[in-house]
Amino acid sequence: MIILGLESSCDETAAAIVSDGVRVLSSVVASQNEIHTKYGGVVPELASRAHMERMLPVIRRTLEESGVSLSQIDAIAVGHRPGLIGSLLVGVAAAKALSWSLGKPLIGVDHVQAHLYAGVLQEADIAPEPRGSVEFPALGLVVSGGHTSIYLVRSWLELERLGATIDDALGEAYDKVATILGVPFPGGPNLDRLAQSPAANDRIEDLPISRLSPTSLDFSFSGLKTAMLYQVRGVPEHPAHKRAESRYVAPPPLDDTRRRDLAATFQRAAVRTVTLKLERALEQLRERGVIVKSLLTGGGVTANSRLRSELATFAATHRLELALPSLAYCVDNAAMLAGLAFHHLEAGRTSDLTLEPVPTTAC
Ligand code: KG4
Ligand code: ZN
Repeated sequence: MIILGLESSCDETAAAIVSDGVRVLSSVVASQNEIHTKYGGVVPELASRAHMERMLPVIRRTLEESGVSLSQIDAIAVGHRPGLIGSLLVGVAAAKALSWSLGKPLIGVDHVQAHLYAGVLQEADIAPEPRGSVEFPALGLVVSGGHTSIYLVRSWLELERLGATIDDALGEAYDKVATILGVPFPGGPNLDRLAQSPAANDRIEDLPISRLSPTSLDFSFSGLKTAMLYQVRGVPEHPAHKRAESRYVAPPPLDDTRRRDLAATFQRAAVRTVTLKLERALEQLRERGVIVKSLLTGGGVTANSRLRSELATFAATHRLELALPSLAYCVDNAAMLAGLAFHHLEAGRTSDLTLEPVPTTAC
């Protein structure tokens, strides 16, 4: 079963061909970083225009690289939610056109759900593991630029959301803190690189690790972000002076050493916030009589070096099988969509030509 997947939800135009839900025959991602860098963030109108220019060349390249012809494709999958509406439209229109002209099923896939699938994808030259190697129920963690959520995953198609961010997503917090520290776009990966410097001290300040309440499985990163702002701009002297002209206690100068150490200190607090909620989720599921067997992870921030190593430790401590995507499949890609679509197809869940882009996730 060969599925062509298309992705255009934000600022990556991507296409991939995946066989039997796991073997990635080709995955092409055209990043738009060069377009958005000078604005310090993604400009939606420019993103959708770039998708229009790049979608067909990206599809052609993925077909060439895989050696698969259009007539060999069994179905077309597309990330139709969530995302920037103008960007999503381009992928959805292309997928509909291909599905109609080839007479093959169309499968609309939720991009957030697909991030959870990325950890089981395999390069085509590696022999596939026996199918069903992920044992359910699983705990799921999505940490991306738009979402930070924990799920109970009963099967690839059955998700129960246990918690989500009430303000910034983790990737968004990384990007904003990078701006505060003067780290260039794309902020998340660059901040990670800075924090990884061998000499970095990850405890130069005591930063808040948000718990929200003793039992909450939701996340909040706005307090941590504000704490970082204060580390750089100074702390207001008195709560009554919170206006622009208020006086600030001057912070130490932001030289390269302090920037590096603040990056590492932020990274430590941000990652701890995540593992703390995962611990809570496991405990609460145990109380409900649910014993999870695996930890599925995905989203751009699973590319983060510290998060990756702490997730490995967490999984080992709790005897969970860890599905951590390889770096190519952490950030937005179409292989995760084509892979998950295989399970939609097996379950008979296909879409028709009324499929619409939707800005929010269904999970
Ligand atoms: O999943 P993704 O590609 O797009 C969304 O669906 O949102 O995630 C992008 C996010 C960005 O916020 C980016 O800064 C963050 O993932 N990111 C990282 C790293 N690599 C990407 N954050 C921290 N450390 C990284 N190494
Ligand atoms: Zn994403």
